[in-house]
Amino acid sequence: MREQVTISHEEANRQKTIIHRLSKKIKDSGLTYFITTLGCQMNVHDSEKLKGILEEIGYIPSDKEESADFVIYNTCCVRENAELKVYGRLGYLKNIKKERPGMLIALCGCMMQQDTVVQKLKKSFKHIDLVFGTHNLYKIAELIETRLETGETIFDIWTEHGDIVEDLPSIRKHSFKASINIMYGCNNFCSYCIVPYVRGRERSRTPDDIINEIKVLATEGVVEIMLLGQNVNSYGSNLDDKITFATLLAQIEKIKGIERIRFMTSHPKDLSDELIAVIAQSTKICDQLHLPFQSGSSTVLDQMNRKYTKEHYLQLVDKVKKACPNIALSTDIIVGFPGESEEDFEDTLKVVEEVGYDFAYTFIYSKRTGTPAAIMADQIPEDISKERFNKLLKLVNAIAYEKSIAHIGKVVDVLIEEVNQQNPLLVSGRLSNNHLVHLTGGQELIGKILPVKIINAKSFYLMGELV
Ligand code: 5AD
Ligand code: SF4
Repeated sequence: MREQVTISHEEANRQKTIIHRLSKKIKDSGLTYFITTLGCQMNVHDSEKLKGILEEIGYIPSDKEESADFVIYNTCCVRENAELKVYGRLGYLKNIKKERPGMLIALCGCMMQQDTVVQKLKKSFKHIDLVFGTHNLYKIAELIETRLETGETIFDIWTEHGDIVEDLPSIRKHSFKASINIMYGCNNFCSYCIVPYVRGRERSRTPDDIINEIKVLATEGVVEIMLLGQNVNSYGSNLDDKITFATLLAQIEKIKGIERIRFMTSHPKDLSDELIAVIAQSTKICDQLHLPFQSGSSTVLDQMNRKYTKEHYLQLVDKVKKACPNIALSTDIIVGFPGESEEDFEDTLKVVEEVGYDFAYTFIYSKRTGTPAAIMADQIPEDISKERFNKLLKLVNAIAYEKSIAHIGKVVDVLIEEVNQQNPLLVSGRLSNNHLVHLTGGQELIGKILPVKIINAKSFYLMGELV
């Protein structure tokens, strides 16, 4: 079942009262915070909400975890590496906390939604202060208050999602660009993936709610939006008033002030002709489509429960390319899925070559306890997975380079995002197709969409000049 979300304004107001109460204690105390965000865009967006609340309480951002008073890890559990990193950092922070016992350590996000993780934390990491999950991060002020009042470690993890609580403070990295959740959760149960177990079932926000949020962002000077969902193509299918993602996009397109619209992630099984047509006609939807194929072998795709074949995927790509000739395609690919043969892997390479991705995110299969793939026979030995991964990476990078150099000589619109971190004489920005470009310029260009001539290219970035 897909569900509609219910918005609780009362809860948002209750939290605002707590934030206000806590701010009387914390404001002007000079206390600092440091957030580490692991994982996907959803987590990045969740961290923007956490930052908003923490700064409203009065915590000051710090650029050093070791000296911060409040340290928080917004975790990911999609692959084991991300989890190991958290345990490693927690071990390190234990020593620091011995010297600075007043330091608070909080953990939240997907990893916390797993019971085994919580048990391990309770047993072996007694120096942590707050643990909460994906469904209740809006409660961070309340949890901090309870921690400060009781002095006890707080575990507050919900197995089910509650009402959606929006309209709380949020701090974006860029004032001119924002992410918006259009739906939460996932119903697809790809056999390797833990997300449906930790983020719950698919729930769509109503179009009115989304459009109002974007209108407010536009009045604040936002020109580019990123619509977020695990599977945006199935947006709205279970709202009381039915609406498709394509219709939502067409409505968003009308909002004055918004110049660029991006979205992710699209599941190939739900990418409709209607959506392709809307993308093709739009002047605001960016020339970019993230369409994960995961594996080029139909046998593996079936085992992955992806619900499409290699042929279907390639037909879809063909349709997209015909309708939108300038589109840059990106994808996610997993190698070393249980049972993947050399032939299956060769099929993956063939799809990569045939489609020609501008960007490809490649992963070695990571066994996630509780998912069907974890108990499949024929798990692939690490050395074979690594060998395949390196081969794939080489191909992906070679194609990315070709895609990059094809820009040389073209004049393209670029949204200038920031002063370059390595060279302060340069600014960096993005093309509509999401390619990164560096050019000479200063602070005054930031937030503007400007025509830029591409003069040089490397695999992962372009060099340009203002025209
Ligand atoms: N192992 C490796 N990669 C995974 N992904 C999801 N689950 C796993 C896993 N168990 C990848 C998929 C997905 C991306 C966000 O992460 O490619 O599209
Ligand atoms: Fe995971 Fe598949 Fe859902 Fe993506 S669509 S979040 S890979 S279960």
